[in-house]
Amino acid sequence: MARTVILYPDRRLRQVSVKVEKFDSWLDTLLDDMNIAMLERNGVGLAAIQVGEPVRAFIVNTPNEEGAQLPENLLEIINPKIVKSEGAILWNEGCLSIPEYTEEIERFASVTLEYQDRKGEYFGIEAEGLFAIAIQHEMDHLDGKLFIDRLPLLKRKKFEKERRKAMKENG
Ligand code: CO
Repeated sequence: MARTVILYPDRRLRQVSVKVEKFDSWLDTLLDDMNIAMLERNGVGLAAIQVGEPVRAFIVNTPNEEGAQLPENLLEIINPKIVKSEGAILWNEGCLSIPEYTEEIERFASVTLEYQDRKGEYFGIEAEGLFAIAIQHEMDHLDGKLFIDRLPLLKRKKFEKERRKAMKENG
């Protein structure tokens, strides 16, 4: 099923997602649909709430050195918890729910994550670089946060002003 990606400022993006309790075919279908929606839009990550499902699940697929997103590099992360975070890194972030806008955001340089897969099995993973950035960005979505919330005040004001202007121009 084709899923629509919800766009800012849709209020659903502000919902706090709930823990996944059932690892069933509904979850399988959701994750499969999310992967299609993400790849169609050349995204690196997508959270369930971005397709309107307020559950604590997201997917990440960081491109390899040739820029390809290989199916075997797809990670499905359910009920994640960051257990360790270190360092700081600046990265030019974007979001499929905020098209055509990117800005530098500071994040932890590396994170250690505990999570479940689509079958409910428990895993741990250490991430750094873009992988760590993507995880932190998607974790924010689970709590109703967007990367623009992390902008310094002046940049945030500029973003809102430009967005209002663009909305007026587009009617
Ligand atoms: Co996003």
